[in-house]
Amino acid sequence: MDSIRVVGGIPLSGTVRVHGAKNAVLKHMVAMLLAPGRYRLENVPGILDVDIMGEVLDHVGATCVRRGSVVEVDVPEKLNPEAPLELVRKMRASILILGALLARVGSARVALPGGDDFGSRPIGMHLEGLEQMGAEFELSHGVLEASAPDGLSGTEIFLEFPSVGATENLLLAAVLAKGRTIIGNAAREPELADLAALLNAMGAKIDGAGTSTIEVMGVSSLTPTDHTVIADRLVAGTYALAAASTGGRIEVVGCDPAFLRMELRKMEAAGCEIERGDDWFSVAGPDRPRPQDIATLPYPGFHTDMHPQMVAFLALADGTSLVTENVYAARFRYLGELNRMGADVHADGQHVVIRGVDELSGCEVDGCDIRAAAAMTIAGLSADGETIVRDAEHIDRGYDGFVETLRSLGADIDR
Ligand code: UD1
Repeated sequence: MDSIRVVGGIPLSGTVRVHGAKNAVLKHMVAMLLAPGRYRLENVPGILDVDIMGEVLDHVGATCVRRGSVVEVDVPEKLNPEAPLELVRKMRASILILGALLARVGSARVALPGGDDFGSRPIGMHLEGLEQMGAEFELSHGVLEASAPDGLSGTEIFLEFPSVGATENLLLAAVLAKGRTIIGNAAREPELADLAALLNAMGAKIDGAGTSTIEVMGVSSLTPTDHTVIADRLVAGTYALAAASTGGRIEVVGCDPAFLRMELRKMEAAGCEIERGDDWFSVAGPDRPRPQDIATLPYPGFHTDMHPQMVAFLALADGTSLVTENVYAARFRYLGELNRMGADVHADGQHVVIRGVDELSGCEVDGCDIRAAAAMTIAGLSADGETIVRDAEHIDRGYDGFVETLRSLGADIDR
């Protein structure tokens, strides 16, 4: 088991360059299964989830080679439409190969996904939408057997919630389906718009990605292309909150601040000073945050993946804050860990009540999941003394060079 050791109390300062987005690159890699040939992805982060997705692709028959921040993918004519159970269980994003394989091969065998442990994360919307397009499913011994006996056909689908994964799965299926697909109440995430940009560069005909209505005209085939992955706004936001919680000042470059509009607005309301450029922003933290009321919502709302880091920041606020979690039913395991550091936080239904305290004190805590581990590190950066964040492997799933980056900003931190 790996740990992060951090000694708090040093205001962070300096510049961070943001790497490519985990929640984009994983989908891009799956999209490449839609057409045989060679692809080149740039700005790929060196994170564990990319390696896991690389193994998923290898199993399906494609070859992935990483050189620094470049990944080259070679997709053969013939694919093995089966996702290995041990890999799919490790990473929920693997469920996206369902849409891609159904579209390309007409069948798929995919284990039901695992992923982070915050409540059950069903895939009903993925399956219902694909069924509307002509897919059939059978679940047997934990494996989903999917087929499209007559191929996939475009249709009008209206999601009951703007699920990111369901929108992406349907998009991947729709680009090669017969006729026109409309996805209503679609997710509007920038990473999804980046996926659509890649697909359009491959020859797909997608309109409206990034809005709540996406229209796709199916095409008969696609061709490989190169693509540069959009910046990781969650990484940008995590470093911004890390700096703010120490009362420091940093510049975050390589990320459009518009992708963090709500998150930065809440930080400003809490007393941070923020300057914005086209693809950079700077953050200076307050002496002490002002309390905030925040509700997580699908984009462009406050991102659920910024919730734990924001709670760690508000733990030291001058009053009581409320964070309402509307996306995941059970993203609260880390609260007990924060309390071990002297915070006063508790969940009441889907609400997190954060009574600001004067000081946090370092101790050993569990990382729980990727964003919780980032949040515990943020708490450690502002705490008195030494904090050990256990299960630090969670960080490796989505942050490339996390400890090194924080150290370059002046933090007393190591692995
Ligand atoms: C993606 C992100 C994740 C982020 C989430 C919300 C990736 C790899 N992961 O996850 O980091 O936290 O978006 O921004 O991109 N749901 C259903 N039925 C479904 C599908 C979803 O009930 O068929 C529920 C989920 O349980 C969850 C909510 O909808 O409560 C949001 O899920 P969704 O937007 O699909 O998130 P993911 O795509 O899994």
